[in-house]
Amino acid sequence: METQPRPARPIVLTTFAPAPELDQQAYDRMARDVRSLLGIDLTQYKPAQVWRRVNGFATAKGLADADALVARVRMDADLRQAFLDMLTINVSEFFRNPEAWEVLVEQHLKPMLLGQPTVRIWSAGCSLGYEPFTIAMLAREIAPQKPIYILATDLDDTILSRAKKGIYTEPQMAGVSPARRTRFFRTVDSNWEVKPELAALITWRRHDLLRDPYEHPFDIICCRNVVIYFTEPAKAELYQRFSEALRPGGLLFLGATESITNVRAVGLLPSGGTFYRRP
Ligand SMILES: C[S@@+](CC[C@H](N)C(=O)[O-])C[C@H]1O[C@@H](n2cnc3c(N)ncnc32)[C@H](O)[C@@H]1O
Repeated sequence: METQPRPARPIVLTTFAPAPELDQQAYDRMARDVRSLLGIDLTQYKPAQVWRRVNGFATAKGLADADALVARVRMDADLRQAFLDMLTINVSEFFRNPEAWEVLVEQHLKPMLLGQPTVRIWSAGCSLGYEPFTIAMLAREIAPQKPIYILATDLDDTILSRAKKGIYTEPQMAGVSPARRTRFFRTVDSNWEVKPELAALITWRRHDLLRDPYEHPFDIICCRNVVIYFTEPAKAELYQRFSEALRPGGLLFLGATESITNVRAVGLLPSGGTFYRRP
């Protein structure tokens, strides 16, 4: 039997764009412009990571480099917002890492809500409000009448004003069970809106964790997935300031991949998982 020669398989060469080398002068130039245009102090962020993200963003927008990006950002308000969103990474969701929220509820939130006259919680870097509303739902499930103060802060004004509206699309509601939707939300057009009684629990404020004074004291501070690109000294200072903003016995709740390296030096003790307690 005659065998047909097989068609030659195309060889696919996958090429990865190399991460651009950090150009310190160009980085400093961009950091100066970012500070004046967006009010973000990049000196406390890890330069290599920021540089990679900025260049990736510039390429995605069809711009040659960071200088070209900054020049365009000056003139284009939409691009300015997209640039800010990219730098601050505001990805979030309701009940992000549900297992950590379960631990928070069972080991910390319930005893506080059932044993104290009032509870004060700070969601630092709250993005679109998923985190403070998650806290508010849990608090109301545990103690429907208990006075509770939830402070929700973020660096990004635009994201905060969207968070305050408390309106979420169907895909954004992925982490919210049907029972919670019924209890805490109402439908408006094809979206979901937080009911006023839940929204009333939250105080919103623009706040830069690297520059502004911290309110205190808090029983719980949630700062999750915010400091990923901060330098180690900036993180250490931030954790020290969180520790001082907690009441004795208060709890710091970090993101699933975050930990504090020199925990005692910042005045905290490990409390299991990504929880740290002020002694
Ligand atoms: C990835 S989101 C985290 C949202 C939420 N905490 C969570 O874990 O899902 C990071 C948020 O931190 C905010 N952020 C970044 N740098 C900040 C700073 N220096 N001060 C306050 N908020 C900051 C960003 O604007 C963004 O909304």
